[in-house]
Amino acid sequence: MTTTQESPTAAGSGANASENFKASASSQEIADTPPERVAAIVTDVLKGVHDAIAKHDVSYPEFQAAKAWLMAVGEGGEWPLFMDVFVEHAVEAQVAASQQGTKGSILGPYFLPDQVRLGSTCKLPRRDDEKGTPLVLSGQVRDLDGTPLGGAEVDIWHADADGYYSGFAPHVPDGNLRGVVVTDDEGRFAIETVQPAPYQIPTDGPTGQLIGAAGWHPWRPAHLHIQVRAEGHRPITTQLYFAGGEWLDSDVAEATKPELIIDPQDDGTGIRRSTYDFVLESA
Ligand code: DHB
Ligand code: FE
Repeated sequence: MTTTQESPTAAGSGANASENFKASASSQEIADTPPERVAAIVTDVLKGVHDAIAKHDVSYPEFQAAKAWLMAVGEGGEWPLFMDVFVEHAVEAQVAASQQGTKGSILGPYFLPDQVRLGSTCKLPRRDDEKGTPLVLSGQVRDLDGTPLGGAEVDIWHADADGYYSGFAPHVPDGNLRGVVVTDDEGRFAIETVQPAPYQIPTDGPTGQLIGAAGWHPWRPAHLHIQVRAEGHRPITTQLYFAGGEWLDSDVAEATKPELIIDPQDDGTGIRRSTYDFVLESA
């Protein structure tokens, strides 16, 4: 079996995303919701479904197609992908309404905990022949009142220049383009990496099939995932996007925000540089 240069299939990355979710801290956070609230939420979700069936006069063959598709999403391990693309942004918007400081965005299915810890000025782990334009993101982590947060963790992960994530695409080595960067005494960091490419939802699985059947596109604009954590502060999970990037205005996951767009400039040596400061609320 040759796996070295294979692109991730939906079955590969989807099933991986399911395994990762099951093993993750977020799956341990499952809410202990009282019955009245479960009933209220589920009643409204089902009402939305029933209303759509009536509005569009849904037929039995369409109902059976929906059941077959739901089964395929589960069998392909794609529920984390589907939920994070089509639903997470609405949950994130609810959280964002009560959070001050840097704007958040969705976590997505590709976060992995416990990545290599790096000093405040660092290079993310990468292959010797890593493709892509060099990119340096530097900045400062501060409190809402402007106090620098030394020893804060800037956990960063992103796709490579072909749009693939380590830990999920079989041909990318574990830990590639991932790291936990620890800020210096002034809360500063400078991270050297490469420019990621836009990300495409695998088109060969049920989520991709749905997107095709609906005539939508499967793309997210290029982005850096970042989670910033500091003791005594509420962590922020966010993403940074690139000015002028393709799909910025039509992200399939609806997770872009104008405050999260950076515009790295070539410093004359072929390296693109940008600064971004993160502001955390006290816990
Ligand atoms: C998905 C992938 C991402 O890279 C992301 O940031 C959000 C969602 C997904 O395939 O579900
Ligand atoms: Fe992503």
